[in-house]
Amino acid sequence: MTPGERPALALPATPHPTPRLVPLHGEPATPVTQPFMPPLTEFLPYLETIWANRWLTNSGPLHQQLERALESYLGVPYLSLVSNGTTALWIALQALKVGGEVITTPFSFVATAHALRLVGATPVFVDIDEHDCNMAPGAIEPAITARTSAILPVHCFGHPCDVMAIADIADIHDLKVIYDAAHAFGVEVGGRSVLGHGDLSTLSFHATKVFNTVEGGAIIAPDARTKAKIDRLRNFGFVDDMTMARPSINGKLNEFQAGFGLLQLRYIDGILTRRAQISERYHAALRDVAGVVPFHIDGAARLNHSYFPVLVTRDCSIDADRLCSRLHDAGILARRYFHPLICDMPGYRDLPSARQPLPVARRIASQILCLPIHPNLSDTMLDRAIDILTDV
Ligand SMILES: Cc1ncc(COP(=O)(O)O)c(C=O)c1O
Repeated sequence: MTPGERPALALPATPHPTPRLVPLHGEPATPVTQPFMPPLTEFLPYLETIWANRWLTNSGPLHQQLERALESYLGVPYLSLVSNGTTALWIALQALKVGGEVITTPFSFVATAHALRLVGATPVFVDIDEHDCNMAPGAIEPAITARTSAILPVHCFGHPCDVMAIADIADIHDLKVIYDAAHAFGVEVGGRSVLGHGDLSTLSFHATKVFNTVEGGAIIAPDARTKAKIDRLRNFGFVDDMTMARPSINGKLNEFQAGFGLLQLRYIDGILTRRAQISERYHAALRDVAGVVPFHIDGAARLNHSYFPVLVTRDCSIDADRLCSRLHDAGILARRYFHPLICDMPGYRDLPSARQPLPVARRIASQILCLPIHPNLSDTMLDRAIDILTDV
């Protein structure tokens, strides 16, 4: 090597082996969900753009482009990208100064309740509706106290909440409504995005979601002023280079993630169509199976089929745990979302609301099973899953 010459970057002689799900009967096991991976060559132009711009994060050009593209695709007024769905919830709660008690659902991913804890609010768990697994509107009013500041419902599995009933209750009691819409990308009610309801809605763009930016999330705001507040909260509280309004976190999404999101967005309609086809196949196959019961959501909703949950009822010869194991043995990695309930977990189970009977939530949690649904699911694996489900 001549003086001044730089050593070539030492790359491993053989690439690191890609982890694979163990093949079973010649077919790799299928997870409950799997991200859609666009052709690698189509991602390269985004990388070239990032290299040319030398702008890696802090609301770069791809980030801004993705915000506008998502507002347009989702039909929402203002969208702010953030680093993940948990941060989205934290920022939304901070933006609305939510504290005291917040009425929420025990049937969700832990992040819903964690976000409340992280802002110092107390989750108050109420029961859910057996038809959609969402917070039961009739359970909200009895849980309201003088300390209640907000309602935090979840559009669980992308099933839209009863947004009108929740809005009425919130109006009467002067409560904020923040929807955890982590599962509800692209979901519509009455021909309009479900994300426009409530004071704010939050999304997760985690790799397991219908639309993903590897990690990521967003907050939907009704007006420019609220978006500006959210944008400050995701950037340490800075109003401009010199002024800091109030201390906050770093919740930014970077240019690589924004580029990945822009590419995903090109494929989203095909992804949703494939998910709808798989959902139809499951529904048709389970029509006459008494003990494995899918959910039938009101036809006015446009769903995203982010999950395919079923209830394994007493009519089934085995319970949800055993059916889950039977599917796993065949390489079909179903998951028991959301069992156990958040209110039965450490950090929550000592709350007064966690010690209530919550009969519907507890029954649903004991019977729930989520079947694989993702654009890469092969017909072979779908047929195999259906064979097992129709033979119990
Ligand atoms: C209902 C719900 N809320 C919030 C989150 C948190 O999102 P993230 O993983 O992007 O932080 C998730 C994640 O899976 C979720 O399912």
